[in-house]
Amino acid sequence: MNAPDAVLPLRSALHLALRQIEGTLAELGPDTFPGDTSDAQFYGPRRLDPAAPGANIGWTTGFWTGQLWLAHALTGRQALRLAAVRQTASFIHRMNAGVDLEHHDLGFLYQLTCVAADRLDAMPGARGAALHAAERLLGRFRPQAGIIQSWGSLDDPLQRGRIIIDGAMNLPLLHWAGALTGRAAFADAARRHLERTRAHLLRPDGATYHTYHFDPDTGAPLRPSTHQGAADDSCWARGQAWGIYGFALNHRHLPDLGLLDDAVRMADYFLARLPHDRIALWDLSLAHDSGEPRDSSACAIAACGLLEIAHQLPDDTARRYYRDEALALLLALHATCAGERPGCGGVLLHGVYHRAANLGVDEATLWGDYYYFEALARLAGCWTPSMPAA
Ligand code: GLY
Repeated sequence: MNAPDAVLPLRSALHLALRQIEGTLAELGPDTFPGDTSDAQFYGPRRLDPAAPGANIGWTTGFWTGQLWLAHALTGRQALRLAAVRQTASFIHRMNAGVDLEHHDLGFLYQLTCVAADRLDAMPGARGAALHAAERLLGRFRPQAGIIQSWGSLDDPLQRGRIIIDGAMNLPLLHWAGALTGRAAFADAARRHLERTRAHLLRPDGATYHTYHFDPDTGAPLRPSTHQGAADDSCWARGQAWGIYGFALNHRHLPDLGLLDDAVRMADYFLARLPHDRIALWDLSLAHDSGEPRDSSACAIAACGLLEIAHQLPDDTARRYYRDEALALLLALHATCAGERPGCGGVLLHGVYHRAANLGVDEATLWGDYYYFEALARLAGCWTPSMPAA
């Protein structure tokens, strides 16, 4: 990969993504949240009973508002800012009203919306809501087990003591809150959670388990399992990508933990299992000729992780290697997965939400769209909400 050769196609990829985002905004209006994934390649109003269509509920709405903040940061267009502000107000309301907050995805939801609004726009109320979100996330920390429980209420018998690899991506909200308040509890919880994640979800060969169960009272490790992967001991592609980016982002805040080396190991495992066209199958254990669908969103998240790894590595040769791998992934995504109207409303086609449940298979996903756009925006030199302020 010759980096200058990537500049023009990736610039046109960025402009195309921007057009798709503005198209969806025009179709849905500023106050309607799209579904987790497209439906027949177009986003409609989110439908999650018992909420009204288009309501701010579920774990993925922040990826839509995050795209709008990022699009505004890139273009300065006021229509994008106004929509982002209105939606961020909905996140403030969601926090105050306590709507669907019993999960660790508070990081995704509030980092890309309220933290972004505070930093970009000093929007009144945004910082307070993000701090409340961080407090709630910290409240999920189970000190005996040293983990932040991922899903469900803390007394849910099925979810007590369970963590998932995706959780690393929610921790930057804690670091943000720690820096703002000076309270060490935020970073301490993140540190202990990451240590346990590394010890039990990351395998010696650099693959990850999707989820892991601990005894919540004693902290005893119990067993790995999966929710969206092909098998308990397989390697779910998107989980691996969350691990790459999540560990690399946390390395900025906890440099003594050695998380960057872990991120590199996970990245090497991911890259070594890509098929010829570089778009990962939804589980990395699947044979490339299995006919199973690809998950483009895993590649978009991994590309962000590779850029972050490259940014932090001290050695020039290694930096260049991981940056070139990120560029190659983004070029492959642009070549085979970029959505364009009139045929498709999504930014990044060919994602998979949950294969076994037949949810969002071969559709655009809000998170795939977001991280593809974030990677392209970062290459264009734009601030991105995932990156810490420091
Ligand atoms: N974090 C949930 C998912 O990636 O589907």
